[in-house]
Amino acid sequence: MNIIQDQRRDERANQFKLLTECNKCSPMGRLLRNFWQPVALAESVPASGAIPLLIMGEELTLYRGDSGALHLVGGRCAHRRTLLHTGWIDGEEIRCIYHGWQFNGKGECVQRPAEANTGMPRTRIPAYPVREYMGLVFAWMGEGEAPEFDLPRKLPLEREGVLVANGRERWDNNWFQQVENSLDAVHVSFVHQALTVGPFGQAVTGAIPDLSYEETSSGIRQTARRSATNVRVSDWTFPNNNHITVPGLTPDDPWIDVYVWMIPNDEMNTTRFMIYGQQPGASDASRIRFREYFAKYGKYDPAEHHDELFGSRTWDNPEDTFVGLTAAQDYLSIRGQARITAREDEILGRSDLGIVTLRKLFWRELELQTTGQRTKTWRSQNDAAPLPKQPGQEAVA
Ligand code: FES
Ligand SMILES: [Fe+2]
Repeated sequence: MNIIQDQRRDERANQFKLLTECNKCSPMGRLLRNFWQPVALAESVPASGAIPLLIMGEELTLYRGDSGALHLVGGRCAHRRTLLHTGWIDGEEIRCIYHGWQFNGKGECVQRPAEANTGMPRTRIPAYPVREYMGLVFAWMGEGEAPEFDLPRKLPLEREGVLVANGRERWDNNWFQQVENSLDAVHVSFVHQALTVGPFGQAVTGAIPDLSYEETSSGIRQTARRSATNVRVSDWTFPNNNHITVPGLTPDDPWIDVYVWMIPNDEMNTTRFMIYGQQPGASDASRIRFREYFAKYGKYDPAEHHDELFGSRTWDNPEDTFVGLTAAQDYLSIRGQARITAREDEILGRSDLGIVTLRKLFWRELELQTTGQRTKTWRSQNDAAPLPKQPGQEAVA
């Protein structure tokens, strides 16, 4: 490469770097913090207990007060910076294990037991509003007042009789690769035919789809048409949630709505939080199957299987041909791009229209933010037209 080519490559690399960052001071980190984001499974926080989190490069403590309410504060004590989750819960406050400083849910230091009683300094640690929804804990980590809890709500799941389950996966690659994968319908025709072909790969088939993408009030609607009766429509919500439908656990079971958020822990690690929804009307046996399956298999961490997957490229878990298998297949391709892929060296084609549409959308919003202009107000699309029927699927309201 000559020097001009090198310079152009560097410019492209810098442009792509904007997409993969997540720290508070980066443009993307600021953008992501302007949305309610899932940070944990509600079930992972014990009664009167605390867990440590790493979200968008920031260490946090999520604790449940004695009342059962959740509080999200900084990860470390303001005194000498030890981890706060190792301390004790006292009412709705948390006490540091090291020298007993105590903080409330607003992050204010309310006690320093070993100090002379000279009045409390205005010491505080970060604190963020949280909200439990459908088994997930969402946090607002932006500046100023938290907005209405609108975009994360999934009204089809709030209907009477819908059965909901959760999933969580930990991946060791950058979050934006996973977001891009949501807008890459072609991958399904290849990746999900690898290892064992599970029900998802069978339903979608290996046919190459015709693609279309449309910007909506909430994000991007993707339509992948493989035949007149094999049309997949998915609604991706800005900036990091995707909604797809997938086959049920047996051919007799209804299809399942999957909402997945891809949240950066830091630039090299991502957690995917899922809400699975089974619409009303399924048989009792089907409902039991749904509940038991996700309780057992809903937390597959592909990063733990890195060596076996990349070494032998086999799937030897016959009971889990859906969640774990699908994640393992995606992991091979997405983690296979490296922990942060070198987009400046890619060669894109017509089938990458979704990727191109997605990146342009982010660059547009980042530019508006950086230049102090109004970014788009994204609104939940729950009033939108019903999704078309999927093959083998009952009507989706
Ligand atoms: S480090 Fe927390 S009280 Fe000292
Ligand atoms: Fe996939």
